[in-house]
Order: sequence, then structure tokens, then C-alpha cells
Amino acid sequence: MKPSDVNACDRAEDCKSSKIQLENMSKSQPGSKTEKADQIVADTKFKDVGDTSLPDGGPVEPATPLSEVKQEPYNLPSPYEWTTCDMNSDDMCSAVYNFLKEQFPDKRYLFQENYSREFLRWALCPPGYHQSWHIGVRAKNSTKLAAFISGVPERIRVHDKVVEIAKITLFCIHKKLRSKKVLPTVMIKEVTRRVHLQNIWQAAYSLPAKRATPLITCQYWVRMLNPMKLMDVRFSCALDNTTAKRLTVKLYNLPDATITPGFRKMEQRDIPAVTGLLRNYLSQFGVATDFDENDIEHWFLPREHVIYSYVVETHDVITDLCSFYAVQLTIDDNNPKHETVECAYSYYNVATQTSLLQLMKDALIVSKKEGFDVFHALDVMHNESFLKDLKFKLDNSQMHYYLYNYRLRSALKPSEFGIVF
Ligand SMILES: CC(C)(COP(=O)(O)OP(=O)(O)OC[C@H]1O[C@@H](n2cnc3c(N)ncnc32)[C@H](O)[C@@H]1OP(=O)(O)O)[C@@H](O)C(=O)NCCC(=O)NCCS
Repeated sequence: MKPSDVNACDRAEDCKSSKIQLENMSKSQPGSKTEKADQIVADTKFKDVGDTSLPDGGPVEPATPLSEVKQEPYNLPSPYEWTTCDMNSDDMCSAVYNFLKEQFPDKRYLFQENYSREFLRWALCPPGYHQSWHIGVRAKNSTKLAAFISGVPERIRVHDKVVEIAKITLFCIHKKLRSKKVLPTVMIKEVTRRVHLQNIWQAAYSLPAKRATPLITCQYWVRMLNPMKLMDVRFSCALDNTTAKRLTVKLYNLPDATITPGFRKMEQRDIPAVTGLLRNYLSQFGVATDFDENDIEHWFLPREHVIYSYVVETHDVITDLCSFYAVQLTIDDNNPKHETVECAYSYYNVATQTSLLQLMKDALIVSKKEGFDVFHALDVMHNESFLKDLKFKLDNSQMHYYLYNYRLRSALKPSEFGIVF
């Protein structure tokens, strides 16, 4: 499909006519002054860290009575309208997929993230999700998407309190509508309004780029699984010297079979045991996801090309868990040999009977067998204990996590953080 088939704003007149209106919109939105502090993403400040006079763990601003939440969507310039995206509809899922595929990539980079339709459904439709939080802006004439933002409900535990939050995930503005403050003045305001309508007053989001003061900054580590391909596509420093290449391949070599007895793919029948195992493990971290059985079924039950989870079963008891999710990178380089890099991202791992080092070595072995080229892990939870031994290298990318309208008195370390998203 050509880009012009996909996107609303490739039609020059759509973009030109709306440019001025979009610029004016940031000034003229009803409530734009008073509601500035109510925007989930852009305005997070974390100035309170270390202020012992403040209570630890609690909303910064109290909830507003629901009757005071604006009932109607914010205004859009006349060529555009809001659309709620039903991700269970194949047509709508494809429209979002195509929009993100076309508009997400940043041409400055050789590798572009490509979220599959299956991945989008996994990420956007967990138990209790609100379709109203999958928000598109489309051109009235062409009905093509011009912007998208999404949120999903999640429970996190902050010390001893469980907080219902909206996790703000994928957002994207059509390239021709960028730098006009459409994100903060339109998209974030609207998602915030819709989150408030569900009586949710806290939110979280993560970004690779640092904006405002994050709750925590975590570091990515990266482990080559298929070094020859990664060197060929320049994902990793390409070594000209053949001997050096051969040594690199040898260095990252992995056994063909897993080591741990009882290591197998997670199944439906494991859900209660995995829930117990993970809840128990996460209880030691200051801030962590609060999973129940429905969440585990959705987020962990294996789905090809999306989420991979393995357990260790000994005498009918599930003792360990490792998991990773899949993101494909497309190579913007007309590479003669390869079109994509298959990335695995470490999700949640729990080791009680097996050492975490051995468990994660098995995770590397199975991820390689599943066709992944590279394995990423953040330095959260106990991950630091295996990274260097398993030949992960510090990556030059970070993930900053932000909490909206929730105060924590003391700063957290990645090893005290039990959340991955
Ligand atoms: C991120 C993106 C939506 C920003 O759109 P934009 O048109 O460049 O930004 P706007 O002009 O609408 O607004 C700028 C304001 O939005 C906010 N903002 C911009 N980028 C942001 C980001 N990545 N995260 C959070 N807030 C952001 C800031 O408040 C910024 O104001 P500031 O520069 O004064 O701090 C756009 O660049 C995009 O679609 N990128 C590709 C997809 C992507 O990277 N999404 C983010 C991760 S899901």
C-alpha cells in the first residue's frame, strides 16, 4: 500500500487548511489554562522527591467529582473528527497498524520499530480495557488517521497501596502535523479527560527520551544472539576483520538445548501457579505491577511473535518463570540479505529453585531457537545479577518512567522497581 493510501494528511489541502486551526487550537481550547495541570503526559514534575514533610505515597491532587469532568470531547479543527478505535475490528486494527507503521519511524535511524497487529491487540486490549482510551483523530474527508493515542488500565502497588492507573502507551502524530503542540493541547488532554471519566486519577508512561523529572530512569542492556547477522546489518559495530567476526560469533555462542530440567513453555493450566509465584516475587519491590490471574492470562500466555513465557516444573510444582516479548525492527537500508532484526525484550523473571543466571541463560537459548537476533533487558528487579555474566553489554539507550498525580517521597533505584513496559 502506498503511503498516500494510508494517511489523511498526505492530501496537501487537508494539512494546509488545518495548520492554522491546529495552531490556534492550543490557545482556544475551553479550559486550556485551568486544565494544564490535568494533562497526563507532558506536565509531570517530580520536585517533591526528598521532601520529608510530605506524605509518602499519595495523590498530588485529589480526585475531582465526576460530575465536574468535561463530558464532551475537546474541539478539533473542522477537517478532523475524533474516532474511537475498536482494535477487535480487523479493519480498524489494520488502520492503526498502517498509521503507526508509516508515521512512527524516524528516518534518522537505520532501524525502525514495527508493531504487528497481534502486538497492538496484546498491548492495547488487556482485561478491563476501555475502548474509549484508544483514540484516533481522522480526516473527515478521507477517514484516514492523522493522530493516535492510547491508554490501558493497570494496577500498580506503590509500597503498600494498590493504585489504579492508566498506562499511556502508543501515541503518534502524522508527520505533517508535528511541532504544532497537537500532542499536549489535543491528544493528551483528550486521553486525560477520558481517563478521568472512568474515575481514574493516576497515570504512568515510559519514554526513551527524558522529559521533565522521571520517577526512575532505567538502563537498557543488550545481548547478541545472532552476532553475524547483527554485524552484517550494522546493528552492532561491524568488524571488518574476518577473524574478529569469527571470535565474536564464538563469544556469543549458546548451547542448542536448555539446561534446566522441567523448563517448558507456559500453558493455560499454569496461570494460578504463575500468578502466585509472580505476586510473591514482586511483593519485595517498592513499586511493582499488581497482577491477578486474568492479567497473567493476558500478559503471559504465549502468543507467537508477541509474548514468550517459560516455566520450570518440578514434581508438578512451578518454581520459576522467565518471559520476554517481541518487537521487530525493519532495516531502512535496502540491505541485500536481511529486512528485519527480531528483538526479544526481557519481561518478568522469577527464580526460586533455579539460579536466575541459569534461568536467563535458558531464556537466551530458547529466544535464539525462536529466531530472535538480539535480547534486551532493563536493569530492573534482579536483572543486574545476570547481565554481565551472560555477556549483555550496556546499551546507549534508557527508559524513563513517569507517574502522573502520585507522590513518592524517596527516589527509587532500578533494583527496587518491579515494572516493565
Ligand atoms: C512524539 C510525538 C507524538 C510528538 O509530537 P510533536 O508534534 O513533535 O509534538 P507537539 O508539537 O505536538 O508537542 C510538543 C510537546 O509535546 C510534548 N512531547 C513531545 N514529544 C513528547 C514525547 N515523546 N513524550 C511526551 N511528551 C512529548 C512536550 O510537552 C512538548 O513540548 P516541549 O517541547 O515544549 O517540551 C511525535 O514526534 C511522534 O508522533 N513521534 C513518533 C512516535 C513516537 O515516538 N511516539 C512516542 C513514544 S510512543
